[in-house]
Amino acid sequence: MSKHLLYFGLLLASCGRHGETPQMAAEPSVGAVAAAPTLPVNAVAPISEATASAQENFGNSSFAIAAASSARLGQRIPNMTPFPNSRGYAATYSTKGFIDLENAFFKSFGTNGRTCATCHSPSTGWTVNPADIQSRFLRTNGLDPIFRTNDGSNCAKADVSTPAARWRSYSLLLSKGLFRVEMPIPTDGEFELVAATGVYCNNPMANSVLQLFRRPLPSTNLKFTAAVMWDGRESAPGLTVAQALSKQANDAMVGHAQALSQLPQATRDEIVEFETSLFTAQVSSLANLVADGARGGPQVMATLPFSIGINDTPINPVVFDIFDAWKTRARSAGQAAIARGQTVFNTKKFRIVGVSGQDSQDFVGSCATCHNTPNVGSYSVPEFFNIGIGSATSRTLDMPLYTVKNKVTGATVAVSDLGRAMVTGKWEDIGRFKPSNLRAVATRAPYFHDGSATSLEDVVGFYSKRFNIGFTPMERADLVAFLRSL
Ligand code: HEC
Ligand code: HEC
Repeated sequence: MSKHLLYFGLLLASCGRHGETPQMAAEPSVGAVAAAPTLPVNAVAPISEATASAQENFGNSSFAIAAASSARLGQRIPNMTPFPNSRGYAATYSTKGFIDLENAFFKSFGTNGRTCATCHSPSTGWTVNPADIQSRFLRTNGLDPIFRTNDGSNCAKADVSTPAARWRSYSLLLSKGLFRVEMPIPTDGEFELVAATGVYCNNPMANSVLQLFRRPLPSTNLKFTAAVMWDGRESAPGLTVAQALSKQANDAMVGHAQALSQLPQATRDEIVEFETSLFTAQVSSLANLVADGARGGPQVMATLPFSIGINDTPINPVVFDIFDAWKTRARSAGQAAIARGQTVFNTKKFRIVGVSGQDSQDFVGSCATCHNTPNVGSYSVPEFFNIGIGSATSRTLDMPLYTVKNKVTGATVAVSDLGRAMVTGKWEDIGRFKPSNLRAVATRAPYFHDGSATSLEDVVGFYSKRFNIGFTPMERADLVAFLRSL
């Protein structure tokens, strides 16, 4: 019992309550950075040797502490261990009975000290958030394995010679949790690059390589995935999702972790089996999400059926029903708000217009139309939509802007990320991404592939404007309360 208490106490102390709103701290002076390593971790608990070595292995502060403590529990994190976030707690349930920290997912096979957990941490919804990344920077002077120039810095040739230079060179990672994905424009595609602005020490006009900045997708709840990666590039016709994940694990080790050889099949299988056994969801927000008949939390999710196309033609518009019990029998204002938000998500109708990727580009639907996997919210078939994230008008100035021209019609379009079109070379795929799985969404601000929405209020604000939805203030607040409870 005391071991558990110690473990839990350390966890809480180290994780802090990460805000949903990531804010880039002002650039620290070199002196401040140099002094910083003693701050965040030592402030809560003396660093034991176990902690220090776990930190080296796992690279993540909060997670390192959890890992070090769990060393005493046999290299595992117990199922349903609550990890705090700004809105309450989220937890992971593994069908294996516990999170096995000895799995290859947590091992370094590459040359730059990274493991999968460097960017997919159990304490932050199996992705990473800016608050945690900034605290890793301060603790290690920007030398933690997450800070590597192959994909962590704004560009490959960035100056990382001093702490202050590193703070500048990793600014997109520090402020928005974005990694740099570099891809050549498909040469046989339907478009060509005609202009590029806001790029970081790269000349895409000469080498046709685009720098795209993307948030790590969570490596959990993968049972409900129809296409792997924001642009589906690891999936291909004829590959099952498990095969795509196996390919992805290898590519991640060779790419992100700079491994010098391909990952043996047995190791890929071990990783895929591990990540597909994980289910992560919020367990408490305005209310305990499994109380009074509600079916929130990850345990119920593990029992949900999924197959590709499970809710496709015809789409059942009632996508979420886990909070049905609170519709009529709410025992608190929080329960009532969450249940009302679920109804808004399922039933609030608006005109979905100009979304390339939708069969019809002008029809009436709801949030559930594109987030249609029952009680999960991913899209149940491998399709991609352009809802306008990263368009020339909505792009933030820290992002590149690429203008491409249709080789046949001569039409041009400017976006910060071409999305699915980088995989297919198709003009119509420009700006298309996969609709996100919405479970445990409170754990992973900022939102969208480019981290452009700092909070769930911002996400709802984006949709409200984009589709002219006309939410009442109460509908907006209820929808946010619901999303935070997933
Ligand atoms: C340097 C950070 C980093 C490391 C290390 C890393 N990933 Fe990722 N991961 C990302 C990013 C960024 C994406 C999204 C990229 C995209 O879609 O273009 C991603 C996407 C994924 C996805 C796709 C999920 C989905 O819904 O499609 C899976 C699965 C995944 N990673 C697993 C792994 C595994 C397994 C490892 C270790 C072998 C690993 N990652 C190592 C950053 C990382
Ligand atoms: C036309 C299809 C469509 C509709 C309608 C839609 N979404 Fe989305 N949603 C997407 C796509 C595509 C993405 C990923 C976009 C990107 O990052 O470029 C996304 C992403 C999100 C995310 C970000 C999750 C993350 O991990 O960053 C949230 C939250 C979200 N949607 C909630 C909603 C809500 C709430 C509504 C209703 C108001 C809604 N969506 C309506 C297609 C849609």
